[in-house]
Amino acid sequence: MTALRGEFRSRLGFIFAAAGSAVGLGNIWGFPTQAASNGGAAFLITYLVLAFLLAYPALMAELLIGRHTHRNMVMALGSLSDDPRTQRAGQLTGVLGLLTASLILSFYAIVAGWMLGYGASYPLGAMGSESTENWLNTFAASRNLTLMLIFMALTMAVVLGGVEKGIERWSRRLMPLLLITLVALALYVLTLEGATTGLAVYLLPDFSKVLSSDFLIDALGSAFFSLSLGVGTMLIYGSYLSDTEHVPTVGAQVALMDIGIAILAGFLILPAMYVADARGVAIFNEAGGLLSEDTLIFSVMPALFATLDTSGTWLATAFFMLMSIAALTSSISMLEVPVAYLIERHGLTRASATTWAGGIIATFSGLIVLNFDTLFGLVVTISTRYSQPLLGIAVCVFAGWVWRRDALLSELQKADASAEHSLFWQVWPIYVRWICPVIISVILLQSLV
Ligand code: PFF
Repeated sequence: MTALRGEFRSRLGFIFAAAGSAVGLGNIWGFPTQAASNGGAAFLITYLVLAFLLAYPALMAELLIGRHTHRNMVMALGSLSDDPRTQRAGQLTGVLGLLTASLILSFYAIVAGWMLGYGASYPLGAMGSESTENWLNTFAASRNLTLMLIFMALTMAVVLGGVEKGIERWSRRLMPLLLITLVALALYVLTLEGATTGLAVYLLPDFSKVLSSDFLIDALGSAFFSLSLGVGTMLIYGSYLSDTEHVPTVGAQVALMDIGIAILAGFLILPAMYVADARGVAIFNEAGGLLSEDTLIFSVMPALFATLDTSGTWLATAFFMLMSIAALTSSISMLEVPVAYLIERHGLTRASATTWAGGIIATFSGLIVLNFDTLFGLVVTISTRYSQPLLGIAVCVFAGWVWRRDALLSELQKADASAEHSLFWQVWPIYVRWICPVIISVILLQSLV
């Protein structure tokens, strides 16, 4: 079975692919403003501690289960126990993960389509195609549908190539490009007037803010979304990881890269916002907080680019390309979840699995586009606010309670003969057993209240 499956050819390929899944729209349109509004450097430090104490153990649960079983989420969770009822519960959890990954992709593809559209509109506008530029920048069902379909086609094209020739190859190309673009944009923006004010807002620590419980819960929730946890993307990528890799180390590298890029994005977004402020663009909402998410990306940034003439066109194109890349490396990981299941459980070829899964998700996404006001927010809330943390708890329970300790230890010993004496072995099993499920439940309950 293993011989038939894909496998990442190199460690770097895996790290880029998994970090590519983690680094998405959330890192760039959410994290920097969240940090700036919540105590700056104090937020960064707290977030780092929380991510490593709580999100990293959950990430390890997915990666280790995937690597141990070398299967998709449904079959992996269904195979950890000998008890038929627990097996069925595992399969059901896997199916819910698969559905949640598909739901997230169905709204993500719409937003990612907008990024593609804005990215193309600037060079087209500069070349004089004003009507196309306007069409690409104006909210309408026909535009949303077209761009979503283009983005889904791109995602399917990568996944169609398989693990090495699709996911790994494109992650290895796109992630360095993302990093270079991010650094180049940040360096340029830092030379503009107003940028240093943004830097100060981003970095000056204010510890009074981070001690509130609301803050801790928000930060933890975003750490889970940011690391793509609970829905089987990390599990399936782990299942393509070679048995010779030391999972705790590569997992830590993935988490560090995700957090590192989120922090780096702050060096672009905050200075850019204050450059915009210096040029008369509104950057605060009515409550006095910084504008964020879609308003930041589709109103504040375009208004800033408009004040910069020719360099604005270049900057805008690069910026929306950056957002599109971040979205694409995340969306391929989401599509791979149902695709791997269809291949391994139902014997489909990769081509038909990709066509079926991609086709169904695109159809549902089209339904969201046509009923945007009722469905979009609902799908986001159900999939990311409720389903993802619930599944996060389930995965930790499977890793901590269902998976036998000796099987777990022998999994760790594959790449580290003395794993028994490692700090990881002494701490992690207790963590996923008790601490992770309890804390995630608290987050979930809080978000319900
Ligand atoms: N981690 C992605 C982001 O920060 O934008 C979002 C995401 C990707 C969530 C993949 C879930 C997932 F399965």
